Amino acid sequence: MTARIAASLPVPTADALAGSAALSRDIAARIEAAGGWIGFDRFMDLALYSPAQGYYAGGAHKFGAGGDFITAPELGSTFAQTLAAQAAQLLALTSPQIVEVGAGSGQLAADLLLELARRDQLPKCYGILEVSGELCARQHETLGKRAPHLLPRVRWLDHLPEHFDGLVLANEVLDAMPAHLVSWNGATIAERGVAVKDGQFIWSDRPANGRLLERARVLAAECAIAPGYLSEIALLAPAWVAQWAAILGHGALLLIDYGFPRREYYHPQRDAGTLMCHYRHHAHGEPFYLPGLQDITVHVDFTAIVEAGCAAGLDLLGYTTQSNFLFNCGLTEILARTPASDPMRYLPLANAAQKLVSPAEMGELFKVIALGKGISEPLLGFVNGDRSAAL
Ligand SMILES: C[S@@+](CC[C@H](N)C(=O)[O-])C[C@H]1O[C@@H](n2cnc3c(N)ncnc32)[C@H](O)[C@@H]1O
Repeated sequence: MTARIAASLPVPTADALAGSAALSRDIAARIEAAGGWIGFDRFMDLALYSPAQGYYAGGAHKFGAGGDFITAPELGSTFAQTLAAQAAQLLALTSPQIVEVGAGSGQLAADLLLELARRDQLPKCYGILEVSGELCARQHETLGKRAPHLLPRVRWLDHLPEHFDGLVLANEVLDAMPAHLVSWNGATIAERGVAVKDGQFIWSDRPANGRLLERARVLAAECAIAPGYLSEIALLAPAWVAQWAAILGHGALLLIDYGFPRREYYHPQRDAGTLMCHYRHHAHGEPFYLPGLQDITVHVDFTAIVEAGCAAGLDLLGYTTQSNFLFNCGLTEILARTPASDPMRYLPLANAAQKLVSPAEMGELFKVIALGKGISEPLLGFVNGDRSAAL
């Protein structure tokens, strides 16, 4: 399987291959130390976040044309400029502070701050909570180049704050949080994990137990899961949302990611789950391919996010597609700032906007969800096309 994938993908450099081999040895040693098996969530955690060679910790370019995948902020400034309308409303309703979680290359932070400055609605402080030291350095560089006068407002946090009022923003972070793999086989439910055989990672199933088994049983009943079904259960992402619920005083979480409500996530036809890997703009489903050199993601079960947030005291403030959200926030007006009679400037913007909202690209698969405390006013981004009832 891995050999077939390798034949169809760009060849990594010798240095990159050596780094991946070192990470693979490290993961294999950890599997042996754990008794010969680790859950897939642990494998994903090590492959992405291992401090030395993990994908997000290492030096791979990751985002944009020269990397492995493109995120909305990397398509240009339009996404952040449009999002700024919702950010400004939330800052005015709560407190003028933002924490961005998982800020990637720092493009969203730079563009959002520049647009909020243009609107004269700058936050007093823009915190960045980022697990990757390499990305923190890159974010600092981006902000230093693109918005040096705003850099004094930016703070890098090394842990979650104890209390926060304002806006917490995360674009494509939930999908990067490690998830469990579960295989439903009628009366038995197995956790699919990773073992090592002849120096290679292999899949290996063990009976699921504890909280995972509990969740898997509830899902089996709720979604009529049939024998032979394989999918993911993310325990970490909902727990992370619940953690924020305890931290937020007066404020909101605005989370943007790809995924579905539970009924669609665990649809009978989606019987191989949503696990996806990205390497140099090739998407495939083989997570053992060159650990540390490729991204590994799972789609978000937004029903689980809402359940966790609401059980922990948050209100659901809105849930809609990225397309609806951006149009509600004034995407058309943002585009109209650049005259169509100037095609060299206008066409790249129109092209990026098309990717952001087209149902065939990011417009429908990507969702925006807002959860908050102490906010009763309708939020701008959800005034048309709110789909909260689908959760
Ligand atoms: C797919 S990238 C998205 C980057 C950026 N938000 C964007 O849209 O371009 C995921 C980001 O989340 C970070 N990340 C993942 N889990 C995190 C966590 N628990 N806390 C903070 N950052 C996290 C990664 O290091 C990375 O910066």
